[in-house]
Amino acid sequence: MSNEQQLSLFEDSNLNSNDQKELIPTDAKIPIPPGTYASMPELAQHCNQCHRCGLGETRTHAVVGRGHLKALIMVVGEAPGQNEDETGLPFVGKAGQLLEKILASVKLDTEKDVFICNINKCRPPGNRVPTTEEMEACKPYLFEQIRLVDPKIILFAGATAVKGLTGDKRGISKIRGQWMEWDGRLCMPIFHPSYLLRNQSREVGSPKWLMWQDIQAVRAKFDEIRKSI
Ligand code: URA
Repeated sequence: MSNEQQLSLFEDSNLNSNDQKELIPTDAKIPIPPGTYASMPELAQHCNQCHRCGLGETRTHAVVGRGHLKALIMVVGEAPGQNEDETGLPFVGKAGQLLEKILASVKLDTEKDVFICNINKCRPPGNRVPTTEEMEACKPYLFEQIRLVDPKIILFAGATAVKGLTGDKRGISKIRGQWMEWDGRLCMPIFHPSYLLRNQSREVGSPKWLMWQDIQAVRAKFDEIRKSI
């Protein structure tokens, strides 16, 4: 083998796909091609050893997801908070309890009908909004989760989730409740439950009232899709 050939063995392009896969949790520059993970536990294992961004330094647990692994509906939030970091489960704090109630109000069961996750799998210190770099580093895991669960409906909880995934910077009040196509899927931005906790009014036109309209529209679409499959 010539010197040239031998040296070229050290180039990234000569790493075989298994070596590349091992490197995924080490650097955001390593791509996560569709089909990398055969299952959610396999993906979770990488998330729990991941340092693609600085949030890996401060997490207690990576927060991967909960709910049905083949759910028709996926809810995508922003990033874990303290309760989620401690338990390793998304939306289990006050906001999560409200989300459960909202879903239960139209008889959607998180064990059966919904898979819940976030763009970022690790908690940003002090619950700050994740940076663009942190979202970009983590998004490929979410894309794999979407591929594995294959939901027919995706709900973006809050403006950060909408902006992080679709690039749409409009305020959530403008776009909530509107069906949109993203990634070839039917999606709807909804208020983040934390926002509803800060806006308790139930009057006609209030955020809580609007959420009630939106979740009924989601339920109607869910029934329509279920009938057609
Ligand atoms: N807020 C989020 O966006 N996600 C969680 O998991 C908890 C709170």
